[in-house]
Amino acid sequence: MTNQEKIELMRQKEREIEAGGGEKAIAKIHASGRLMARERLNLLFDEGTFEEMDKFVEHRCYNFGMDKVKTPGEGVVTGYGKVNGRTVFAYAQDFSVIGGSLGEMHATKIVKCQDKALQAGCPIVGLNDSGGARIQEASHALRAYGRLFYRNVKSSGVIPQICAIMGPSAGGAVYSPALMDFVYMVKQDYAQMFITGPLVVKSVTGEEVSSQELGGAITHNRKSGNSHFMADNDEDCIMQIKKLLEYLPSNHKERPPVIECEDPADRMDDGLNTLVPESSNRPYDMKKLIKMVVDNGEIYESQSLFAQNIITCFARMKGYPVGIIANQPRHLAGALDIDASDKASRFIRLCDCFNIPLLTFVDVPGYLPGTGQEFGGIIRHGAKMLYAYPEASVPKITIAVRKAYGGAYIGMCSGEGGPDMIFAWPSSEIAVMGAEGAANIIFRKEEGAERKKKIDQYTDEFATPYDSAKYGFVEQIIEPRETRPKIIRALDMLKNKVDERPWKKHGNIPL
Ligand code: HXC
Repeated sequence: MTNQEKIELMRQKEREIEAGGGEKAIAKIHASGRLMARERLNLLFDEGTFEEMDKFVEHRCYNFGMDKVKTPGEGVVTGYGKVNGRTVFAYAQDFSVIGGSLGEMHATKIVKCQDKALQAGCPIVGLNDSGGARIQEASHALRAYGRLFYRNVKSSGVIPQICAIMGPSAGGAVYSPALMDFVYMVKQDYAQMFITGPLVVKSVTGEEVSSQELGGAITHNRKSGNSHFMADNDEDCIMQIKKLLEYLPSNHKERPPVIECEDPADRMDDGLNTLVPESSNRPYDMKKLIKMVVDNGEIYESQSLFAQNIITCFARMKGYPVGIIANQPRHLAGALDIDASDKASRFIRLCDCFNIPLLTFVDVPGYLPGTGQEFGGIIRHGAKMLYAYPEASVPKITIAVRKAYGGAYIGMCSGEGGPDMIFAWPSSEIAVMGAEGAANIIFRKEEGAERKKKIDQYTDEFATPYDSAKYGFVEQIIEPRETRPKIIRALDMLKNKVDERPWKKHGNIPL
């Protein structure tokens, strides 16, 4: 064979592998509305930058006639390339090849991708589309999942790990995503995630549930909180992942990427002075407030449909990425409950891992009361926020907007070891509890006009920022319109913040 013929042979073999599971299988997948693994990777990477690894890998299973089954590329495409100019590793499962199922060699390809991403200090993106453990490979398939999980854990807090559910994801296939930093789900019938599918659910519990209801994008974004972002389709999903990567550094030793900002750093917004209703029980939209403060009014919200009483989003201040946590008075009056605590704590820790400063906007009446919350463990779950904020060593700035009551106020980054700066608006009510609640306890013997007088006195003296400012518990009381420049100056002051802690293996956050 001449050298040219050898090259031709190599190209021929490559073409066969790129053809995946063949025309019929591909046509079926396209007909369902989804893209193929390579098409997805083409959308993710900057044109012409993708370098594929381990294209020629084959399985080595002989059970159930598998010795006669070809699995081009072993059902997964792996490699690295540039996303908006920065190196990213990725793997995309190919459902056309034996249902994208995960066997020993399929996993070996993903594991190598994970190891190389960790060594290179680059983010990894997984595009999942798989029937789960390859049934023919029995215990090898189970062990293979364990290899993935171990890498997920090893990389946690070192490189960003992002996963998209773009097809079925059942059984063991759900746990690698769950161990990653962010999970995207495509809002289409073909994408779903569950431990056991509708048939098993029916046989065990008798419940009848559709696969979408059990594990579709809406369920996981709204109810379970297992997914952080929802996408309309494959293209939207990949565009959103690229957007998210723009907020994240490549690894824990880097700072997040700063972009040019045309929105003036000293821009004030008079609208902020009137945004908060004068009656402290009337709701308003905290998202609107945040957008008036950040660069160009742009936020990228994580878990926007889950625990809507708290907002977690990325934004930029003078081009520098920040993570924002804010109570939303429109939902449950912004009270903290179990889901809100879980959502916020995880986001705080994510930002801290990746050197993203934290802004916390507070309008919190307290922890949500009730047996549901108490029996569900609000003490343990609420403690996560009390743990996550002091644990975070990134710059932390708190803005007390309105209600800032009790332990929930401490939970919103105001306690010792919490914020580097607290800015309080004149409308803020920093107190142990609201005046009515206080009256029910300390003025309960008073009646009528006397009781009202005491409540008014409590409101004037304690439901304000001045009692806190008097003792230096807030650094500045500011006009709402000044919020943007004040935050930007504080972030600039904190840009080289050092916050050293005693050495330990790791802490023990209440889980
Ligand atoms: C081997 C599989 C497979 C699997 C699908 N295929 N899943 N082969 N192992 N897990 C094959 C099918 O046999 C079929 O092959 C091809 O992939 C396409 O699958 P279809 O069923 O035709 O596709 P569709 O109708 O779209 O249905 C998709 C599906 C279904 C819902 C995912 O295939 C399915 O239920 N698969 C099994 C899911 C499952 O129970 N997985 C194991 C989870 S347990 P042919 O040759 O016909 O084209 C698990 C434990 C791990 O993961 C725990 C680790 C901790």
